[in-house]
Amino acid sequence: MFMFGDSLFDAGNNDFLNISIDYKADFPPYGETFFNFSTGRSCDGRILPDFAATYANLPLLLPYLYPGFNNFSNGVNFASAGAGVLPQTDPETVL
Ligand SMILES: *[C@@H]1O[C@H](CO)[C@@H](O)[C@H](O)[C@H]1NC(C)=O
Ligand SMILES: *[C@@H]1O[C@H](CO)[C@@H](O)[C@H](O)[C@H]1NC(C)=O
Ligand SMILES: *[C@@H]1O[C@H](CO)[C@@H](O)[C@H](O)[C@H]1NC(C)=O
Repeated sequence: MFMFGDSLFDAGNNDFLNISIDYKADFPPYGETFFNFSTGRSCDGRILPDFAATYANLPLLLPYLYPGFNNFSNGVNFASAGAGVLPQTDPETVL
């Protein structure tokens, strides 16, 4: 399973962008109801890709930029909060 999208689907890619942007979710209360810590998801729990992966009997998809992650056999999450398809969308969030 391969995910693309914006903050609705971002499982933490923006946490690993080495730029100062407003679209990070690396602080409480993000994540507090399921993971018990902030995971970069713009949600206090799981996001749609987490439920889709669980339904497909796959592990939760890791962010593409997760350090050391290079085995995409089960899929990968490319979503980045703030991303869009138009040229005027914030270019800093394009992976
Ligand atoms: C961010 O910087 C770290 C440390 O220099 C580097 O390992 C990583 O690849 C960089 N991430 C991106 C998305 O450029
Ligand atoms: C989060 O904390 C609750 C309450 O302590 C616990 O039941 C739950 O298993 C924890 N979730 C994770 C993903 O560790
Ligand atoms: C990649 O992950 C798959 C699924 O977990 C596993 O079967 C495979 O051995 C892994 N490949 C490598 C090179 O680690």
